[in-house]
Amino acid sequence: MSDQLHIPEGLTLTLALPKGRVMETGIELLRKAGLPLTIPEKSRLLRHHFGPITLLELRNSDVPAYVDLGVADAGIVGKDVLLEAGRDIFEPLDLKYGACRLALIREKGANGPINRVASKYPHVAAQYLREKGSTAEVIKLNGNIELACLTGLADAVVDIVETGSTLKANNLEEVETIAQSSARFVVARSSLKLKRAILRPLIHRLSELV
Ligand code: PRP
Repeated sequence: MSDQLHIPEGLTLTLALPKGRVMETGIELLRKAGLPLTIPEKSRLLRHHFGPITLLELRNSDVPAYVDLGVADAGIVGKDVLLEAGRDIFEPLDLKYGACRLALIREKGANGPINRVASKYPHVAAQYLREKGSTAEVIKLNGNIELACLTGLADAVVDIVETGSTLKANNLEEVETIAQSSARFVVARSSLKLKRAILRPLIHRLSELV
């Protein structure tokens, strides 16, 4: 185990992490980088304190707002979520885990026109379609997006492909990859200046670990 990072007296650090697996891997990494953290026991507690460090346990799509507005000094979030959020957040590090890609997906063999696209990533989907010169309508859905293709709700979907097993199990195919994603360490621009005494060495240590 590496040395603990020196946290100057009086300095606090608030971190925004997405609940679930990304959070556990993230805590493990931050701990190796020298922060005094442990994985919280399962409970309904949403905010965890470790001395001067506070962990906020969030929905992944809410991490960008917390960091952009400076409520959290830093956080971990997928590139897919950052692309969708479209916020101007400092993104100093690719943490190289949670790899997946955003893709345009259709039923195998489908070749009719694409007039309607469903996605949990409506901004990414709309931008992709604009770049393709398509005027297809985008519908925002919240989960099991692939069903939209299979039921005719949409002609295609924009969604995450990780192992590809969802595609395979549902007779779907990836038509085009839109963007690659992985977990990113993000920092609030305001905190970068005010809390550089802890954030600079933390970013440096994390960069050596990934
Ligand atoms: C995600 C994504 C795909 C699936 C891809 O869904 O939306 O459905 O994982 O992974 P695979 O390529 O390994 O099969 P998730 O389970 O996160 O939930 P959701 O469908 O409710 O968004």
